[in-house]
Amino acid sequence: MSSPCEIRDLGRHNGEEATVRGWVQTTRTHGKVAFAVLRDGTGIVQCVIVKAEVVPELWDQLAQLTTETSVVVSGRVRAEPRAPGGSELSVAQLRVLGPSHDYPIQPKEHGIDFLLDHRHLWLRSSQQRAILRVRNEVEQAIFDFFYARGFARVDTPILTGAIGEGGAGLFEVDYFEERAYLAQTGQLYAEAAAAALGKVYTFGPTFRAEKSKTRRHLTEFWMLEPEVAWADSDDNMRLQEDLVAYLVERALDRCSDDLAVLERDRAPLERVKTPFPRLDYSDAIQRLRENGHDIEWGHDLGAPDETFIAEQYDRPVFVFNYPKQAKAFYMKENPADPRTVLCDDLLAPEGYGEIIGGSQREDDHDKLLARIRHEGLPEASYRWYLDLRRYGTFPHSGFGLGLERTLGWICGRQHIREMIAFPRMLNRLYP
Ligand code: 4AD
Ligand code: MG
Repeated sequence: MSSPCEIRDLGRHNGEEATVRGWVQTTRTHGKVAFAVLRDGTGIVQCVIVKAEVVPELWDQLAQLTTETSVVVSGRVRAEPRAPGGSELSVAQLRVLGPSHDYPIQPKEHGIDFLLDHRHLWLRSSQQRAILRVRNEVEQAIFDFFYARGFARVDTPILTGAIGEGGAGLFEVDYFEERAYLAQTGQLYAEAAAAALGKVYTFGPTFRAEKSKTRRHLTEFWMLEPEVAWADSDDNMRLQEDLVAYLVERALDRCSDDLAVLERDRAPLERVKTPFPRLDYSDAIQRLRENGHDIEWGHDLGAPDETFIAEQYDRPVFVFNYPKQAKAFYMKENPADPRTVLCDDLLAPEGYGEIIGGSQREDDHDKLLARIRHEGLPEASYRWYLDLRRYGTFPHSGFGLGLERTLGWICGRQHIREMIAFPRMLNRLYP
C-alpha cells in the first residue's frame, strides 16, 4: 500500500494509486458491483469493487463491511462527479482495523433521548459533523475579528469566589477549606483586564445552575465577552453588530456545504447587514401592549415578547435601556432616565431569541456599591471589583455573546443542545 492521504486530497491523485483510512459510512451491493462510502473527517469517497475483477476474498471482505468499521483501503482513483465526494476508488486492497457490529445509530428516526445517550457516536452523523464544522468556523471568525481589531484575549478563571451575574444559580465546588463557584461569566475579570490592556475579550465555558428546561438553556455554555475601555453603550452596540454581521458572513462564505447539509435557508442570513435596528425598551413595551402582550413596564421581556419584536425586522434588533430592576447590578445608570440602565439585548431574527446581552458598566464607585448592597450581594467578594472604580475609574462597556444560541440561529436549529459536542443540561451529565 502507498502512504495514506486524506480523502479531501484524492482529487489530486486522479488516475493514480492512493491509500486512505476511514470509517465505513454506507454499503450497498448491485449484483456484481459492491460500493462502500468511506469517511475520514476530511471528506468522503466511494469505494468500488467489481466482482469479476478481484479475487473472491476481497469481494467477500467488501461485501461484508458493516457501518462504522474502520479500514485502510488502497486502489486507483477516478474522478466521478456522480459519486458522493466526487471521487471513486477502485479497491485493490482492504484491511479492517476495527470491526463494528450492530452500530446503534441507523438511518431511521431515533428519539432525541436515544440520540443524546449516544452522543459520542451521534457526532459522526452528517448533520452533526456539519454543526461541529460551523462551530469551528465561527470560533475562528471570532478570533480573527478581534485580532484584526487589536484586542487581546485574556483567559478568565472558571473557579471563582461568590461573584457573577447575581441572579441565576451558581454551581458550588469544594475548594479546600472554602467554597468556590463555577464562573457564570468572565466579565468582571475582563473589566479588570480592560484597565490593563484597553481592548480585551475572554472566551470560555460558563456555568448556570438553571433549572429551566427550555430549548435555549444549557447549564454549561460558551460565552464570548469583549470589554472595551472608553467605549460607551453606543460604541458597544456598533461593535456587536459588526461582529455578528461578520460571523454570519463567514459562515455563509466558508460553510456553504455544511449549511446545505443542515438545509438552512440562506436568504434570511444574507439579509444580516449593518446597521441593525434599535428599539428603546419603553417603546418595545408600548408596542407589545398595543399588540395584546400582557407585560408591564419594569419586567424583562419573555420569549414570546422577544419573538414578536424580532418578527418585525429582517435582521437582528437591539432592545436597549431596560429598567434597572430587570437587569444585573453592574450596568450603568442612564443619566437621562435613572430608572433605566445603559444596556442592550440583541435579538436574533426568525424567533431565535436573545443572543447577546451587553451594557456600559457602572463606573461610579458609590453608585455601584449601593447597587451591590441593594441586591444583597456578598459585598466582601466584590471588594476587588470595586477597586476598579477606586483606582482610576474609566468609562467602559462590553457584552456577552452566547455561542450556542448564535450557532443555533446560524444553523437553523431551535434547540441549542446540538450546538455543542457534549451538551450539559438539567438531567444530562453523560456521555
Ligand atoms: O445576558 P447574559 O446573562 O449576560 C452576561 O452574562 C454578561 N456578563 C455578559 C457581558 O456583558 N459580558 O448572558 C449573555 C448571553 C445571552 O445573551 C445568551 O446568548 C447566553 O449568554 N446565555 C446562555 N446560553 C445558553 N444557555 C444559557 N443558560 C445561557 N444564559 C445566557
Ligand atoms: Mg441576558
